[in-house]
Amino acid sequence: MDKLLIEGGSPLKGEVAISGAKNAALPILCAALLTKGPLRLTNLPDLKDVRTMLGLLGQMGVRIERESANAVTLDAASIDNPVAPYEMVKTMRAAILVLGPLVARVGDARVSLPGGCAIGARPVDQHIKGLQSMGAEVTVEHGYVHARVPRLSGAKLFTDMVTVTGTENLMMAACLADGETVIENAAREPEVVDLANCLVAMGAQISGAGTDVIRIRGVERLHGATHRVMPDRIETGTYLCAAAATGGQVRLTGTSSCYLDSVIDKLMDAGCEITPERDAIRLQAPRRLQAVSLRTAPYPAFPTDMQAQFMAINCVAEGTAVIRETIFENRYMHAVELARLGADVRIDGNTAVVRGVDRLEGATVMATDLRASASLVIAGLVAQGETLVDRIYHLDRGYEHLDEKLSRLGARVRRVG
Ligand code: UD1
Repeated sequence: MDKLLIEGGSPLKGEVAISGAKNAALPILCAALLTKGPLRLTNLPDLKDVRTMLGLLGQMGVRIERESANAVTLDAASIDNPVAPYEMVKTMRAAILVLGPLVARVGDARVSLPGGCAIGARPVDQHIKGLQSMGAEVTVEHGYVHARVPRLSGAKLFTDMVTVTGTENLMMAACLADGETVIENAAREPEVVDLANCLVAMGAQISGAGTDVIRIRGVERLHGATHRVMPDRIETGTYLCAAAATGGQVRLTGTSSCYLDSVIDKLMDAGCEITPERDAIRLQAPRRLQAVSLRTAPYPAFPTDMQAQFMAINCVAEGTAVIRETIFENRYMHAVELARLGADVRIDGNTAVVRGVDRLEGATVMATDLRASASLVIAGLVAQGETLVDRIYHLDRGYEHLDEKLSRLGARVRRVG
């Protein structure tokens, strides 16, 4: 099993290109199920989760043509097996995103329940409730969600909480429904907008994406299209944090500050100088960061997917930060691992109190989930001596060429078996 060996203490310096967004790519790949026409995607990140999704679509009958590591054409002219088996769903919860498109296009879908997940219960009741409101008959049997309907009907939908993949699933399903669907309390995340843009390019009639009310007028069929996946705002934020924590100076290209207001705001509060450019962001770190408190919430507030990375930078900042996690109930597993490096973090329910220390020291730590792993890498880059991050398959799910990109910025990192 791969591990990442980090020799800490070098400030990150230089320029690196940001990849396409994992959380936009995954739903957009599923959108291919909605049409018989070919969907060509560029700026697709070459990640384990993307390969898992391609494998899942392939076993349903979707033809996949790889142009390069970052471009692919999907052809779902025939779907002969509308099933997402447990073996695939258990490694990637986002597999639930095939449910809406499948039931809309072929009127029948069987998708394994994602089951428990390291960062909380994460049920899919809102996805199911929405499809039922659109006329689908949904049963849960033998660990599978089974949805059936000759054709979905447009409906007024309200989700009990803001759910990103829930909004995406229902928006995709509604594209082929009979009549208009209105999704209230919709997620406003930029990835929802990127998916909507792709669906519109495929002939869907959608308005309001990016607000909390999305209207979709169903059409008989969608057609093929070409779409460029948006830049990954969480990868961008992660490299900004790594540069900030190490006292570095970086320029991230192929990305934009416009999706990152809340994160940039906090980095500026921490003392970083940030210069947004047209398709790039520059960061210059101060000599020592100031602690920054934060509270996670749905977009445009501070993203839960950046919470762990900010915990890492607070570990070595001047002062004390209070972090409140409001999206997931069990998303502090990195705290005990950071403590192994000498961090001072106290957890009480959904609140973490991080007291900045003068220095961290290298140790062996265990990655527990994707963003938790990123926080351990950041801490390892700051720590004196060697840090060995075990179980980095979590990182490979969401960070394209992480070790290469960090090396390009001057970090001393290498993969070890
Ligand atoms: C997506 C992102 C993930 C991010 C999260 C929150 C993808 C592929 N993943 O995950 O990186 O951390 O948004 O920004 O885009 N909930 C329910 N019932 C449901 C659906 C959700 O109770 O049917 C709850 C969840 O348990 C959680 C909250 O709603 O507490 C938000 O979850 P949700 O937005 O659905 O997260 P994901 O879409 O799975």
